[in-house]
Amino acid sequence: MKILILYFSGTGNTQKIAELYSKAFKECGDEVITETLPDAENKISALNLNEFDLIGFGYPIHAFNAPANVLKLAEKIPLLKEQKNAFVFKTSGEPVRMSDVSSLKLIKILKKRNISVTNEYQYVMPYNIIFRHSDEMAYRMWDVAQKIVPLDCREIKNGVPKKAKRMFMGGFLAWFLRIEHWGARFNGKRYKVSSDCVHCGLCAKTCPANNITLAPDGKIKFGKNCLMCMRCSFTCPKNAIKIGLFNSWKVNGAYSFDPPPADAPNPPDKHANYCKKAYNRYFSEAEQKINAARNEAN
Ligand SMILES: Cc1cc2nc3c(=O)[nH]c(=O)nc-3n(C[C@H](O)[C@H](O)[C@H](O)COP(=O)(O)O)c2cc1C
Ligand code: SF4
Ligand code: SF4
Repeated sequence: MKILILYFSGTGNTQKIAELYSKAFKECGDEVITETLPDAENKISALNLNEFDLIGFGYPIHAFNAPANVLKLAEKIPLLKEQKNAFVFKTSGEPVRMSDVSSLKLIKILKKRNISVTNEYQYVMPYNIIFRHSDEMAYRMWDVAQKIVPLDCREIKNGVPKKAKRMFMGGFLAWFLRIEHWGARFNGKRYKVSSDCVHCGLCAKTCPANNITLAPDGKIKFGKNCLMCMRCSFTCPKNAIKIGLFNSWKVNGAYSFDPPPADAPNPPDKHANYCKKAYNRYFSEAEQKINAARNEAN
């Protein structure tokens, strides 16, 4: 099979999942081409999507929706000659059922281009906003993702459909929450840098919306195209970026994703009860899938 994976990742979580997909398909002997936003937007008209047998779309959930740039990319896809199957993979900080609505708009746009989404998967990865997950939790999420992506890959290849559950008023809810796209631009104008900034220019260089400029006098300016992807504030080496109205929710610095050493201090996790039921359900469903595959292999 020839597979195209198109994805966006603000702070690396969705990228890690895209890499797992690419590896799993390649191990099955498939040819995989991966393109990420923003470059994918310029390349989409040059890529002949008719040539691919399968297309994957990946994104981080933002306010129970796909980010604006992902929808824009989908809108740029021309009408395909024949119907193509597609799968969607998305990452989120919590596994609540409400996230099932997040792909509705994307699926609708793709359908108009003769692309049918047959499989949709959500992977819980650590928050890049709201609060920092513990290292132990980040490792647990990553460990599960590494085990289930190859199984989800196999499901896709075997033609076993997996759709997100339909929710009452789901379309309306997703439409209403897409106010976040406007909110991101509004709030992005309110980003500021503190005196800790060392003018390294990393934020301006890596912003996927080209929304940051480093003036000759060293001043950092934020434009009106922010996606609230958190890349700038998450990766700033001096933790110097203030993210407007949501500054108290800022998370700075990459997660390690390594297993915590056995003798690591184990401070009480102050978020241990946050969405506990939903996380337990997510991990237990993943475990069931992993065990079922193991039993099948024996
Ligand atoms: C603006 C914004 C909104 C978010 N909204 C949600 C949400 O509605 N539900 C959720 O579970 N996680 C939400 N998250 C967390 C991200 O989806 C999660 O950390 C994701 O794995 C980040 O992926 P990335 O590193 O590929 O950008 C949000 C993050 C941002 C920055
Ligand atoms: S990444 Fe941080 S330190 Fe570097 S220019 Fe941007 S705000 Fe300043
Ligand atoms: S300004 Fe920061 S949060 Fe906004 S799009 Fe650029 S990198 Fe992302």
